Amino acid sequence: MQEPSLPRKQPPATPATGTVVCLLADLPDGGGRVFSFGPEDDPFRLILLRSGDQVIAWHNRCPHFGQPLALKDEWLILKPHTTLSCNVHYARFRWNDGVCESGDCEGESLTGVPVTVRDGQVLIV
Ligand code: FES
Repeated sequence: MQEPSLPRKQPPATPATGTVVCLLADLPDGGGRVFSFGPEDDPFRLILLRSGDQVIAWHNRCPHFGQPLALKDEWLILKPHTTLSCNVHYARFRWNDGVCESGDCEGESLTGVPVTVRDGQVLIV
């Protein structure tokens, strides 16, 4: 007999197109920052990474246990322009494509969030 399955919790929605996340100047080159949107008890969490004028955004949710990779800017574990690692069990993800290259979720990926830089601002698109 099959066990009844529990309903899967849906992730909170991505912020709307056009939402300004921050100024490009607020992101250090080779560094990153974390942001949250929506209700405090169930926010949408975002990580921005900057390489020169390029900004990459990842949903701040580890594919291993679904935990945030980092809750504070100063807790981000980065190798500039190369990798970021999860604070929980230290899975390491490639900077550019979000693929886990080492750790408990090797081969899985972070979820990308489309962003652009316009007039010095980083926006959700
Ligand atoms: S929750 Fe991120 S590596 Fe386990």
